[in-house]
Amino acid sequence: MKKKHIRTGIVGSGFSATFHFEAIAKIYGTDVEVVGVHSKGEQGGQAYAARRGIRFFPSLDALLEQVDVVHVCVPPMAHEPVAVAALERDKFVICEKPLTGYFGDGTESFHWDRCDKQVALDVALTSVDNIMRAESASKGRLMYAENWVYAPAVQKEREILEKTGGQILWMHGEEAHSGSHSVDYAFAARCGGGVLIGKGCHPLSAALYLKRVEGRTRDGIPIRPKSVSARAHALTRLDTFRDEGHIRCNYYDIDDFALLHVEFEDGTIATLLTSDIVLGGIHNWLEVCANNHRVICNINPNSAMRTYNPVEENFKDVYVVEKIETKQGWAATSPDEDWFTGYPQEMEAFYRAIAYGDPVESELLLAADSISTIYSAYVSAARKGAAVDVKTFSK
Ligand SMILES: NC(=O)c1ccc[n+]([C@@H]2O[C@H](COP(=O)([O-])OP(=O)(O)OC[C@H]3O[C@@H](n4cnc5c(N)ncnc54)[C@H](O)[C@@H]3O)[C@@H](O)[C@H]2O)c1
Repeated sequence: MKKKHIRTGIVGSGFSATFHFEAIAKIYGTDVEVVGVHSKGEQGGQAYAARRGIRFFPSLDALLEQVDVVHVCVPPMAHEPVAVAALERDKFVICEKPLTGYFGDGTESFHWDRCDKQVALDVALTSVDNIMRAESASKGRLMYAENWVYAPAVQKEREILEKTGGQILWMHGEEAHSGSHSVDYAFAARCGGGVLIGKGCHPLSAALYLKRVEGRTRDGIPIRPKSVSARAHALTRLDTFRDEGHIRCNYYDIDDFALLHVEFEDGTIATLLTSDIVLGGIHNWLEVCANNHRVICNINPNSAMRTYNPVEENFKDVYVVEKIETKQGWAATSPDEDWFTGYPQEMEAFYRAIAYGDPVESELLLAADSISTIYSAYVSAARKGAAVDVKTFSK
């Protein structure tokens, strides 16, 4: 069969725009042409375009004229406007995580510690509604670039659930490392909150996804979150924190540790941890305890490879694994980190959906439930862990 030709554009020219471009280059089932990039930072956008031999578009509209699909690789506060503009023009949207959120009250004095989390929840849900309405009215569709859904370990668990009809009783998992390098990340008004949304969205969305798979397999209806209890802390902003230079600690107003306990409609549970205070490289894993099997999905690190390096300098040009502090001694070196993380797999799947109508595993409804759970978790954390009901979305 002749591969279908799809014209695509990237919005944003930073970190995620880089790994999106690399993952697109690995697509084998669809003939994808990256036409160009639009980015607010014009200099960075021009350089990104020149390095890849694609056009730079000074406006989003000009890019949308030329493409069938856009990749939303901009900070979270710009997800809704870019996604809605694209859907209104009947384009497909591949949107980075988190789908959207609450980005402050617009005042300079805005501080996440003092803000009303119920307002944050209400505003975030309105934003979700805006995107859902835009998708309903569009010939295009939003695909949620939650790479954990497409991580091979999580997709293997999908297969196990589908083939065994298992019931998940409890999941626990974590996404953590020693702190994001992004300047914007320090400010809740730019990212929608702290680590609870920024990193917690990953294991949470994978857990929400697997309960959806379980429900649709057995009864044709996804099982959705019912309530959430959470605690959120700012450990590196404590007066008592003792900085030894290993953990980033210059955040303005964000949480850097959070614990979420989700109860699903069927009474089963998931407990998720997320933080910016863990040394030793990225710690991304999800364990599933089902009535007929148990699975540990090690996304990073995993045991695919181990290296031993007696002299730090030896590995100066060798990429080992994300966020590791030292390359000396034993390391869980990843032979293909992007693959374990699910980046090429999500792009392959999204373009198969766009070109040939294949079903999408990580779709807008999952993203919507994830945002709803996250901001309900912030309300719960403000109430020191009291359970808060989660509003879920349907089409
Ligand atoms: N899935 C993952 O593993 C992963 C990893 C990192 C980041 N992300 C997500 O990717 C998104 C972007 O993060 P990043 O790390 O690439 O940030 P970044 O700061 O590296 O890049 C952001 C880019 O967006 C551009 N930009 C900002 N506002 C814009 C607007 N309104 N219109 C057009 N361009 C605009 C900036 O000029 C910059 O080029 C975030 O939502 C983040 O959560 C996902």
